[in-house]
Amino acid sequence: MPLERFADRMARLGTETAFEVLARARALEALGRSVIHLEIGEPDFATPDHIKEAAARALRDGYTHYTPAAGLLEAREAIAEDVSQSRGIPVHPDQVLITPGAKPVMFFTIMALLNPGDEVIYPDPGFPIYESVARFLDARPVPWVLREDREFRADPEELRALVTPRTRLIILNSPHNPTAGVLSRADLEAIAGIVRGRPITVLSDEIYGRILYGAQFASIASLPGMAEQTIILDGLSKTYAMTGWRIGYGVATREVAARLVQLMVNSNSCTAAFTQMAAIAALRGDQGCVERMVAEFRRRRDAMVKGLRALPGVRCLVPAGAFYAFPNIRAIDPDSGRLAAHLLNEAGVAVLAGTAFGAHGEGYLRLSYANSVDAITEALSRMQTAFARYTANARAT
Ligand SMILES: Cc1ncc(COP(=O)(O)O)c(C=O)c1O
Repeated sequence: MPLERFADRMARLGTETAFEVLARARALEALGRSVIHLEIGEPDFATPDHIKEAAARALRDGYTHYTPAAGLLEAREAIAEDVSQSRGIPVHPDQVLITPGAKPVMFFTIMALLNPGDEVIYPDPGFPIYESVARFLDARPVPWVLREDREFRADPEELRALVTPRTRLIILNSPHNPTAGVLSRADLEAIAGIVRGRPITVLSDEIYGRILYGAQFASIASLPGMAEQTIILDGLSKTYAMTGWRIGYGVATREVAARLVQLMVNSNSCTAAFTQMAAIAALRGDQGCVERMVAEFRRRRDAMVKGLRALPGVRCLVPAGAFYAFPNIRAIDPDSGRLAAHLLNEAGVAVLAGTAFGAHGEGYLRLSYANSVDAITEALSRMQTAFARYTANARAT
């Protein structure tokens, strides 16, 4: 019998496969193999200099201590101002909770709002942590299937059929990881029409809200009456290439925000002070850096989609936002996990199986194009060779 005994709930906790695939890829690299990284969901750009400078200044100025659990007032003011402008709603700093990365907002929301057996409707495929945390905390995760024939935009009509008297939370994520689908304003209005006035909260994960290629960003919180029912999850990780800084935030009603702050007190105490000061510089500074990064992502997206579409057996929609391609590879192998493993082991291309994002991700791969066009081109060439050999072998056996 093992010495350690774990709580039963640990058996219900999932994971983010991206980190596991990254570890496997690194192990292959340690053996001298070349691996192209298309698995991890983070911008490869350096954090812009003026943001790094602001952090260095903050360290020198003594921002090296605890801050209030909700975050420094001046940082919450900068966030409130930014969210208010971008969503067109009034936001008071008391409605803002600053967290170490945006992820804790998922945990805190489910922990604060759901009792055992309460239902949370979440996108499948979708960010794996939604389902993982819901199960962990004894809530009942209810998948809302995203379909390729709707460009992976969650279907409000399907939502209507999923809502029950036990539904407490609905999770939206637009632009969406992993499918790159973007909900239209009409989609959001239809969703709001179902949710408005019911005792249901929407957790709107808008972390990719600034990474869009032409589509207009829309938040459900902007629709009449919906700010009172919505928790916005956002942060600086993706927009400003700051994944390692761990800075994100939630915006909710004052009442809900106060509960989330209680959870901060009981877990992290606060977010690092100098990263909060860096966030102010990012939000109030020149936004040209974001525009340049998005323009470069678009160039890479175009190279990625063109290359994927040229591969026999691969079908791929044009990503409308974020930095992921989600090609349908069913014609090559209906088992996406097997195909992803083959690509890593035989071709040195690290990608994620669609099933890393839920059962309904089967038949797809997720490729992050947060890598150079040269690396993407080389990856596509390796994939072409690997797929050709793979299908030939499958035919022979
Ligand atoms: C949809 C989505 N939400 C939230 C996060 C978490 O962001 P952070 O790194 O700020 O915790 C990610 C990161 O991959 C994501 O893809």
